[in-house]
Amino acid sequence: MKKEQEIKQLFETYSLNTYKRVGPVFAKGKGSFLWDSEGKKYLDLFPGWGVSILGHCHPQIVKAIKEQAGKLIHLPNNLFQEEQAILAKEVIKSTFPGKVFFANSGAEAIEAAIKLTRLYGNKNGRYEVITMKNSFHGRTFGALSATAQNKYKDPFRPILPEFKEAVFNDFESFKSQVNDKTVAVLLELIQGEGGINIASKEYIKNLKEFCKERDLLFIADEVQTGMGRTGKLFCYQNYNITPDALVVSKGLGAGVPVSAFVVKNEVADLFKPGLHASTFGGSPLVTKVTLEVFKIIKKEKILRNTEKMGGYLLKKLNKLKDKFTFIKEVRAMGLMIGVELSVDSFPVFMKAMEKGLVINSTHQTVLRIMPALTVKKEEIDKGLEILEEVFKEIKN
Ligand SMILES: Cc1ncc(COP(=O)(O)O)c(C=O)c1O
Repeated sequence: MKKEQEIKQLFETYSLNTYKRVGPVFAKGKGSFLWDSEGKKYLDLFPGWGVSILGHCHPQIVKAIKEQAGKLIHLPNNLFQEEQAILAKEVIKSTFPGKVFFANSGAEAIEAAIKLTRLYGNKNGRYEVITMKNSFHGRTFGALSATAQNKYKDPFRPILPEFKEAVFNDFESFKSQVNDKTVAVLLELIQGEGGINIASKEYIKNLKEFCKERDLLFIADEVQTGMGRTGKLFCYQNYNITPDALVVSKGLGAGVPVSAFVVKNEVADLFKPGLHASTFGGSPLVTKVTLEVFKIIKKEKILRNTEKMGGYLLKKLNKLKDKFTFIKEVRAMGLMIGVELSVDSFPVFMKAMEKGLVINSTHQTVLRIMPALTVKKEEIDKGLEILEEVFKEIKN
């Protein structure tokens, strides 16, 4: 049996069937490229589902992992360590005056955010959180309950009841969900899983002002949009607002599992010892590597590249839109890009993979392209060449 078939057989026999896995067996990666077990090379314009912002195996990240692994990998959170403290300072310096809690995944940090809403609202009997239709906040029970998409929730009902759904980008819809039990709004500024839907500046301004007037917490889920993806370090910085709390993950550790929940100073003291914890959260290994990510972003001028390459990719995709009538719209901010088709996007994703290009298909008809923020112009050109070939086949 070929190695690839053997591995696939192992998955089928031993792994819980929660993922729809496709394509070959991948064996190694470097920058924007992956190689499968047969040695075939792929251009990866969706590395690590938005995680690998510095591409695969960035040499400085590899070095930081090796060095820290030989020094101290894990330490429980009842003891002091240097790495986590320094990273916390870096995160706060990069966001707003506040405090940070480190966890391991997006959903885990969202859980901390949901707990904040309870701590904040309990003083006056408020507990309802408004979230947006087509949002995605994760798979743990709280995060799932906050996710306003029935396809994820229906198999698990009854879910937690205290979440209200509003239409994204519709301020009137938001207001209609507010009552005297409302304590917070939780939203993605750009919905990722929901198909790259970008919040308008006007909407966010209205929402933020309303939250201030009505003493509601404005919580930004930047699991996907954070760490430079949109051309600013955090997406909220494109909107000239400051959230009351922020959730970041995916690109934060550029591949190591880490998330951060940042809370503004005014409410941070609601968390007291014993109210929240995570065994693995903020280990010296991941915090040291994450600190390195911040350094690389500055040193390699990653934000400038994101803006430049994002603009280039958007322009080229719009040219493709003029050629193929089934491309309905291209939506983008920085290197977070959605191409809305009038046909199913999954076959496009599969055909692209066969031709050596990795992208993503989401929300039935949307192609999601989120390259490494280090992506080069030639790589974008190559990717678009393959995509155009696929589009030609789809057309025929
Ligand atoms: C906006 C957003 N929030 C939360 C999550 C959940 O993150 P994780 O899968 O790390 O739990 C995701 C994952 O895709 C996400 O895109």
